[in-house]
Amino acid sequence: MKTYAFSVMFIYLYCFLGNGMEVHDTSHTVSLNHGQVPNNQRGRPSFHLRPPKNWLNGPMYYKGVYHLFYQYNPYGSTFNKTLVWGHSVSHDMVNWIHLQNALVPTNPFDKYSCWSGSATILPGNKPVVLYTGLDIKNQQVQNLAKPKNLSDPFLKEWVKYSGNPIIMTPPRGVKPDDFRDPTTAWKGDDGIWRVLVGGLRNNLGVAILYRSKDFVHWSLHDDPLYFWKNTGIWECPDFYPVSINSRDGVENSENGKTLKYVLKASFLPHDYYTIGSYDADKEKFVPDNKGLTGSRSDLRYDYGKFYASKTFFDSVKNRRILWGWINESDSSTDDIKKGWAGIQSIPRQVYLSTTGTQVLQWPIKETENLRQKHVTYSSKKLNRESLFEVSGITAAQVDIEVSFKLPKLEEAEILDPKWNDPQLLCSTKTARVSGQAGPFGLLVMASEDLTEKTAVFFRIFKKNKKLVVLMCSDQSRSSVRQGIDKTTYGAFIRMEQKDKMISLRSLVDHSVIESFGAQGRACITARVYPQFFVKKEPHVYVFNNGSLDVVMTTLDAWSMKKSEGLT
Ligand SMILES: *[C@@H]1O[C@H](CO)[C@@H](O)[C@H](O)[C@H]1NC(C)=O
Ligand SMILES: *[C@@H]1O[C@H](CO)[C@@H](O)[C@H](O)[C@H]1NC(C)=O
Ligand SMILES: *[C@@H]1O[C@H](CO)[C@@H](O)[C@H](O)[C@H]1NC(C)=O
Ligand SMILES: *[C@@H]1O[C@H](CO)[C@@H](O)[C@H](O)[C@H]1NC(C)=O
Repeated sequence: MKTYAFSVMFIYLYCFLGNGMEVHDTSHTVSLNHGQVPNNQRGRPSFHLRPPKNWLNGPMYYKGVYHLFYQYNPYGSTFNKTLVWGHSVSHDMVNWIHLQNALVPTNPFDKYSCWSGSATILPGNKPVVLYTGLDIKNQQVQNLAKPKNLSDPFLKEWVKYSGNPIIMTPPRGVKPDDFRDPTTAWKGDDGIWRVLVGGLRNNLGVAILYRSKDFVHWSLHDDPLYFWKNTGIWECPDFYPVSINSRDGVENSENGKTLKYVLKASFLPHDYYTIGSYDADKEKFVPDNKGLTGSRSDLRYDYGKFYASKTFFDSVKNRRILWGWINESDSSTDDIKKGWAGIQSIPRQVYLSTTGTQVLQWPIKETENLRQKHVTYSSKKLNRESLFEVSGITAAQVDIEVSFKLPKLEEAEILDPKWNDPQLLCSTKTARVSGQAGPFGLLVMASEDLTEKTAVFFRIFKKNKKLVVLMCSDQSRSSVRQGIDKTTYGAFIRMEQKDKMISLRSLVDHSVIESFGAQGRACITARVYPQFFVKKEPHVYVFNNGSLDVVMTTLDAWSMKKSEGLT
């Protein structure tokens, strides 16, 4: 039996940061007159999914339609504990139709909020969702809902199960405040369903395991699937199989020897994952390496702004797709003025690398449907301090991919063993700091005089007999405005012996810069709000600031269309 599954992401994390935020009704600030974009709307993305207004946050596939559910505050663009499930549908995950809210707080078991959860497709192609409700006592409980009419192609209306909550009391040691976000469920060969709920048990971040024969009665398994100390609460856990030596996605309930498993947990401020093996009979997940410890050596989907992500299996195209929530970098006062906050990442296909040591991510093929005007360059030598502009495209809305030849090992600088924190290294060795092999890469959302720019670049080091690539997204000069988060992000890319080239792809969408290094071995997402952009158009450049010449082998850039259905 094939079941496929979808999941839902969330956005409610602010409350757990104790970040008291006021919320105003902003519906009147968003009106656009005659197609003119008001200054405070210039940062509004054109091909990243965002609700008509306010917060966004979650995916599923059912009978030809992709569904995205998200945590949505109908009252304003800052955090409000009262959240509903917004709902949008799409045939291609690029163009969207916004629907009525799918779940709103109406019952004692979700009186104060319908928080995050996930969907599972039951045998007979019947979708259901499990979600966390904030109940009448302000406690977190797990609920079940299903579509009202399976013949409705958009599944607009959802009905909550009358016996909710289906899981009420958290396990011993878990507070009712720290118990949320059920995953997509999976079925073992024994016919029993399993689901994980995120939580904090004493000081352990935990993926709590429940089992059920009928999807309604759930019993706690003695041991969590996995846990780690001192991480804080695990939110939005995700657990799924990946194929070995293939990009094919695998449905959650598939079991087999040719599979590895990915376990992801979100604990502030990042999404961490680990790869391992899972034995459903023994109910044991064993990571290949230590993971989910919250340390620098943990694997991350994205080394920038990316949280509360979820995957789902797309049974039509046989792939697994990852969505993440991308936070703002401006202030909540700005968010109130803009009338919206928070967007979804470009959907990314996710699969195991041939080395089996990490997952790779790549924007889904459909993203290319938005490509319009194309410019291309090849074989260009970049001397020290060279800079050239990629012209002829709309730099505020562009998909750009560039490849560079890697230097010879002897030409690279030695990596000081102390430099083990890539983010710190990128913030010290910014684009302005010359090196040997690098920095070289792209300047995006750049003003003509270059006072404002975001540099996405590589720097190549050697360590023992290997090249080590550092990828940076340097926001320190992204805007002259104050009160904006301009943290610089960095990641080390795992190189392979055979690598001769390194590529960089950036999807620039007004305030969003989503970058994929080395075909998705490292991803970094940034949000930028340059001052010049209020009145002027941005530019894109390729640069080299290292003493070695760098050969850019190819560059392709496309102006991107606006997605249909986004306001
Ligand atoms: C938050 O949600 C409540 C509904 O529970 C609503 O009445 C209130 O206006 C919202 N507050 C803000 C500040 O958004
Ligand atoms: C269910 O949806 C189908 C397709 O939209 C519609 O024709 C039918 O009337 C709906 N049934 C009910 C009970 O609403
Ligand atoms: C979201 O962004 C704001 C402002 O940049 C920051 O203060 C907050 O910590 C971020 N939240 C998360 C979960 O990353
Ligand atoms: C390259 O380095 C020079 C000298 O430090 C600096 O003026 C220039 O801004 C740098 N280029 C970039 C793209 O940062």
